[in-house]
Amino acid sequence: MNFKEQFSQGIPDELPTIKPYDTSVNHAPKRKDILTKKEKILALKNALRYFDPKHHPVLLPEFRNELETYGRIYMYRFMPGYKIYARPIEEYPGKCIQAKAIMLMIQNNLDPNVAQHPEELITYGGNGAVFQNWAQYLLVMKYLSDMEDDQTLVIYSGHPMGLFPSHTNAPRVVVTNGMMIPNYSKPDDWEKFNALGVTQYGQMTAGSYMYIGPQGIVHGTTITVLNALRKISKKQEDGALFVTSGLGGMSGAQPKAGNIAGCITVCAEVNPKAVNTRNSQGWVDEVFTDLDQLTQRVKIAIANKESVSLAYQGNIVEIWEHFDKEDIYIDLGSDQTSLHNPWAGGYYPMGMSLEESNEMMAKNPDKFKKKVQESLRRQTEAINKHSKKGTYFFDYGNAFLLEASRAGSKIFKDKNGEFVSSTEVDEDNTNWAYPSYVQDIMGPMCFDYGFGPFRWVCASGLEEDLDKTDAIAAGVLQKLKENAPAEIQSQLQDNIHWIKNAKHNKLVVGSKARILYADAVGRIEIAKAFNDAIANGSFAGPVILGRDHHDVSGTDSPYRETSNIYDGSQFTADMAIQNVIGDSFRGATWVSIHNGGGVGWGEVINGGFGMVLDGSKASEDKLRSMLFWDVTNGLARRSWARNKEAIFSANRAMEIEQKLKITMPNIVEDSLFLD
Ligand SMILES: NC(=O)c1ccc[n+]([C@@H]2O[C@H](COP(=O)([O-])OP(=O)(O)OC[C@H]3O[C@@H](n4cnc5c(N)ncnc54)[C@H](O)[C@@H]3O)[C@@H](O)[C@H]2O)c1
Repeated sequence: MNFKEQFSQGIPDELPTIKPYDTSVNHAPKRKDILTKKEKILALKNALRYFDPKHHPVLLPEFRNELETYGRIYMYRFMPGYKIYARPIEEYPGKCIQAKAIMLMIQNNLDPNVAQHPEELITYGGNGAVFQNWAQYLLVMKYLSDMEDDQTLVIYSGHPMGLFPSHTNAPRVVVTNGMMIPNYSKPDDWEKFNALGVTQYGQMTAGSYMYIGPQGIVHGTTITVLNALRKISKKQEDGALFVTSGLGGMSGAQPKAGNIAGCITVCAEVNPKAVNTRNSQGWVDEVFTDLDQLTQRVKIAIANKESVSLAYQGNIVEIWEHFDKEDIYIDLGSDQTSLHNPWAGGYYPMGMSLEESNEMMAKNPDKFKKKVQESLRRQTEAINKHSKKGTYFFDYGNAFLLEASRAGSKIFKDKNGEFVSSTEVDEDNTNWAYPSYVQDIMGPMCFDYGFGPFRWVCASGLEEDLDKTDAIAAGVLQKLKENAPAEIQSQLQDNIHWIKNAKHNKLVVGSKARILYADAVGRIEIAKAFNDAIANGSFAGPVILGRDHHDVSGTDSPYRETSNIYDGSQFTADMAIQNVIGDSFRGATWVSIHNGGGVGWGEVINGGFGMVLDGSKASEDKLRSMLFWDVTNGLARRSWARNKEAIFSANRAMEIEQKLKITMPNIVEDSLFLD
């Protein structure tokens, strides 16, 4: 069978041969053994319903073994024999160009060079799944191969419910991930219902097929580090020290961003595979396994005011404690362990090897939880010591503050500025000891002005196309900057600088993709220029637009994207739901809505979209309508929450578009409440 035939065959009639478990690949840790005996039978029945009954006697013991060994049924036998990566769009089978674009994006999310645990269909974040098992993957590829322009594929948490008749302007795919009845949305509910095979954690760009490797986050991280340095009045040439952790899917962007921002980055990572990957990709300059050697190197880097990134293969707690003992001054500090998933491999406790942790989290989850919490208390204590010396520490959207507080750490500050734990909190006078990066930086400086992580993928797979898009985007932003208001001049300048240097920074892993923070006007003008270029034959293929969820409108997440909303509505999810509904009838090619992602199951609702530009007039109409809504929805909500930057942006949006009428807030004087 050739590639196209294999790709579109769906679940094969004859069982493929069993594949040996590949130990050279990074695998997901064994999941918690959470199902009762009866529930295990249900999980097996659920898995077997994908297959002809004639195969059940062979598959039953195999799936039972997977459930016992890994805590999930991945159906490894059905992993395809062909290589998974973002092929040029014309290589995919089918009749519908939009469907082919979606295949390309899914292939990219599962590319072993891109995905964190490719054989468990996990793209990033430890549990960010594209599908729950390989049967779902095979079926989706078949449906997309069969799809016509007036059908919509409906996907429930990786499971394709089927192709339904719709119309040409409808999304080709609608994805929901982890949509639970709210009372069943605790972390253990994910463990249980995911093990049963009825839901999945789609993270953010994993389950919406918009992951573009760490590049997606490098830009945002660079903006964050640059502005954090500005906040503490440090310049590029000052040799400031930034200490953080994680060299995984997103966290791996930190050293690269630190280099671009011009500081010294020390990043701890417990997993040698992750360290090697980032080092071999050139994302982190030097690797250390010995704390003393690392310390010596850091002292030299500080003395020479270098811009360099150093990985420490070990636990982050060791660094915070050791640098305190050695009295090394840390300018900036953060953490990007996967604390949204603390009990299942997201956070490795101090004093235990990777292997010991992986074993304990499966065999003795209660003890493992205690170890994690103990480690978090130690980590917080050490960070607090540095903070007293002047370190500016910020939460990086990974639920560090939340989990540290749940662990009983002294992560709050009372009215006297003393560090206290949640049991000592006085509701009216206690605050988190540290800001989230959104509260201090990204919220007021980016999201409230409508700036967010716009991105595109060149479906031709050609480097030349990507170069042309970079040049077009730089030209558009340059032109917009000439007449832009003072409030967004520096944003535009940072983004022009970024796009001009993007190729030089060698950011592409996987598909030929680019990220560029832009506001509604910027996104629309860039997309329109791409569409025109496709129409006049300048590109060899279509362009796929999207964004991640670290954005103005797509995500309701009280400890991250919406942590700078202060009217109480940060605990509502209307914005994300409105966003995905609105995108779906304004021209998105696919839409997705997810529970979880980033900060954890039950902690966030986020939505995404993809849009294929093919150079047609229809594409132009859709991009104008949908991109405008996709940003101004969030501006309206942020402005109603009385965020002054968003009030400015909402008024500006109404000047640009006469048909837009936003309900604006009246400002209530604090002096009314003095007594
Ligand atoms: N920066 C952002 O803007 C941003 C955006 C999205 C998500 N996040 C959050 O950041 C976190 C990391 O994301 P990711 O995709 O890199 O996840 P990941 O799981 O791929 O990487 C986290 C890494 O941390 C390592 N680690 C865990 N505990 C450690 C410890 N104690 N010491 C040293 N290393 C340890 C793990 O081995 C892993 O490689 C997630 O919670 C994610 O939701 C941040």
